[in-house]
Amino acid sequence: MRILVIFSIILLSVSFTVAGSEIPADKNIIVFPGKLGDVTFLHSLHSGLENVGGVEKVECSTCHHTYEGEGAVKACGDCHVRSKKAAPAGTPDLKKAFHFRCRDCHKYTMEQGKHAGPDKKCKLCHIKNK
Ligand code: HEC
Ligand code: HEC
Ligand code: HEC
Ligand code: HEC
Repeated sequence: MRILVIFSIILLSVSFTVAGSEIPADKNIIVFPGKLGDVTFLHSLHSGLENVGGVEKVECSTCHHTYEGEGAVKACGDCHVRSKKAAPAGTPDLKKAFHFRCRDCHKYTMEQGKHAGPDKKCKLCHIKNK
C-alpha cells in the first residue's frame, strides 16, 4: 500500500512537470489562413525533431523563444503585430517572424543535406484549396 502511494505521488509530479510543456490537442495541427493560400503547420511533427536547423533537438523554446519552460505558452501574435508600421523597432512584424523562423530552419537544414519543409516555393506552404 505504501509503495503504491509513493508510486502515485511520483506519477503525479511527473505529469505536473510535463503538463505545462505539452502541445494542446486542438493545436496539434494549426492552419493559418492567408491570401496566397492556407499554411498547414504540423505542430507535433516539429516538436522533438532531432538535428535540424542547427539544434540537437527542437524544443518548445526553439520557436516559442520567449518561453522559459513554465506558465502559458504565448501566441506569436501576442507580440509580433501584423502591421509593418506598428511593429516596434527591432521586433519583426508577424509575417517576417514566421518566415524567418519557418523558412530559415528549412533552408538551413537543407543546406546541411537533410530533409526539411519548403523554403523557396511559396506554394508548398501556402496551399490554395481550389
Ligand atoms: C515554410 C512555410 C512558408 C513558406 C515557404 C512561405 N510562407 Fe508565407 N507565411 C507562412 C506563415 C506560417 C505565415 C503566417 C500566416 C499568417 O499570417 O497568419 C505566412 C504569411 C505570409 C503572408 C502574410 C499573410 C497573407 O497571406 O496575407 C504573405 C503575403 C506571405 N506569407 C507570402 C509568402 C511568399 C510570397 C512566399 C514565397 C516567396 C512565402 N510566403 C513562403 C509560411 C510560409
Ligand atoms: C517549429 C515551431 C514550434 C515548436 C517546436 C513548438 N511550437 Fe507551439 N506554436 C508554434 C506556432 C507557429 C504556433 C501558433 C502561434 C500563433 O498562432 O501565433 C504555436 C502555438 C502554440 C500554442 C497556442 C498558443 C495560443 O495561445 O494560441 C501552445 C500552447 C503551444 N504552441 C505550445 C507548444 C509547446 C508546449 C511546445 C513544445 C512541446 C511547442 N509549442 C513547440 C510553433 C511551434
Ligand atoms: C513575449 C513576446 C514574444 C512572443 C510571444 C514571441 N516573440 Fe518573437 N520576438 C519578440 C521580440 C521582442 C523580438 C525582438 C528581440 C529579439 O530578437 O528577441 C523577437 C524576435 C523574433 C525573431 C527575430 C529574431 C530571431 O530570433 O531570429 C523571430 C524570427 C521571432 N521573434 C519569431 C517568433 C515566433 C515564430 C513566435 C511564436 C512561435 C514568437 N516570435 C513569439 C517577442 C516575442
Ligand atoms: C527547427 C527547424 C524547423 C522550424 C523552426 C520549422 N520547421 Fe517545418 N520542418 C522542419 C523539418 C526538418 C521538416 C521535415 C520533417 C519530416 O518530414 O520529417 C519540416 C517540415 C515541414 C512541412 C512539411 C510537412 C509535411 O506535410 O510533410 C511544412 C509544411 C512545414 N515544415 C512548415 C513549417 C512552418 C509553417 C513553420 C513555422 C511556423 C515551420 N515549419 C518551422 C524543420 C523546421
